[in-house]
Amino acid sequence: MPRPRPATSRATPGQEWPAPPHAHLWPDAARVDAAGRLLLDGHAASDLLATYGSPLYVYDEATLRGQMRAFRAAFARRWPTSVVAYAGKAYLSPMLVALLLDEGLELDAVSAGEVALAVGAGYPAERIHLHGNFKPDAELAYALAAGEGGVGRVVVDSLDELERLAALGEARGRPIAIWLRVNPDVATETHASIQTGHADSKFGLALADGAALEAARRAVASPWLDLRGLHAHAGSNLYDAAPAARVITALAELAASIQATLGVTLAELSPGGGAGVAYTPEQRDLAPDDYARAVTDALRAACERLRLAPPRLIVEPGRAIVARAGVALYTVGPRKVTANAVFVAVDGGMGDNPRPALYAARYHAALADRMTAPPSETARVVGRYCESGDVLAEAVALPAAQAGEPLAIPVSGAYHLPLASQYNLVPRPAVVALRAGVARLIRRRETLADLTRLDVP
Ligand code: LLP
Repeated sequence: MPRPRPATSRATPGQEWPAPPHAHLWPDAARVDAAGRLLLDGHAASDLLATYGSPLYVYDEATLRGQMRAFRAAFARRWPTSVVAYAGKAYLSPMLVALLLDEGLELDAVSAGEVALAVGAGYPAERIHLHGNFKPDAELAYALAAGEGGVGRVVVDSLDELERLAALGEARGRPIAIWLRVNPDVATETHASIQTGHADSKFGLALADGAALEAARRAVASPWLDLRGLHAHAGSNLYDAAPAARVITALAELAASIQATLGVTLAELSPGGGAGVAYTPEQRDLAPDDYARAVTDALRAACERLRLAPPRLIVEPGRAIVARAGVALYTVGPRKVTANAVFVAVDGGMGDNPRPALYAARYHAALADRMTAPPSETARVVGRYCESGDVLAEAVALPAAQAGEPLAIPVSGAYHLPLASQYNLVPRPAVVALRAGVARLIRRRETLADLTRLDVP
């Protein structure tokens, strides 16, 4: 295993080189040098692999900040009391938390683990919203005590949970600030496993059968619950903003009926996250501006129609903040030509990126030292794990790949490392962050010793 090395500085300033083909899939500062090598913030991808080992995940901090700012600006322009809360499940690390603090984003967390990481990295607990359809007692207790004052909001997913929270509030002698997670029955066009706002979903209190209104009634009646707002999340990787607009409209309508029937004004509404990103050359991101326009226009119209005071609007993008900032770097192994396909095997796969296996997700791939070489074949990039479903990219046009050369998969920053496993007892990759031309290791590569560290003989 290569040892972690100290930070290295880039050899060449990157800006003088052209952007890679399909630039919209790569980090902002990605370039291709005269030799055809992929440069990430001035570092050749192959040099990063030589220094830090393979496979390697690389995050470009400028791209992360750019996406955070794009979402903040798009909403702030249209809704002055808007808040962008990053959905930490997409990727969380102390580096990312430092950027959230710097850029003024709040945080959506779904476990005590995510809360612990954020608070441990200096993030104030009161700016965290805790989600989840089942928050085990020990995790709730942890979150309610985190940073002493506890997380800022707990998002209640069921009537059972409402009762448990009221009891916890009473036990600590202080009401708990909550949102209700609503199931608005809004359809989305995305993989079935990442739809969350349809009637058949496990998430939320249904609008249709009155569970959401009943939860509001019980919350208002409890002295130990402080009902602040409503939340829903329709689904992920959406290229159309219309479902988010329907969600915010449904939440505003529920807020109006709560106001009319219970006399309580809810000052916070959240339509969740879900903005989709381009993974392949022909796809395009759902632009933060288009997403913000759809949501704020719908909210403004609903507030006027229902005579609601404008609430705080909290949006929760995850993928769209981190996906394009991350690049996965691999080393090519065997290339196999069969009657059916050209297989190019790399030294990672479903252990670091199970998304193709889970969601039939599609990816682009490029040979990182031959970015401008003309493609000569259509290859299937496969991993090194013992399953046929271990495919990283189907049908990518590549020059004939040679063993030992670097292969890069862009748009690898969201939901790869958080879903990564030690399947086949393969150690998980190292992670490097790039900032202003300086590369630094932010997570060391797992070792064989790490794989057995927790076993009790
Ligand atoms: N808010 C809530 C309540 C959520 O459940 C989610 C995602 C988000 C925000 C952020 O959604 P985003 O902006 O990232 O689409 N592992 C899957 C995605 C699961 C998303 C779960 N919830 C994937 O790799 O596609």
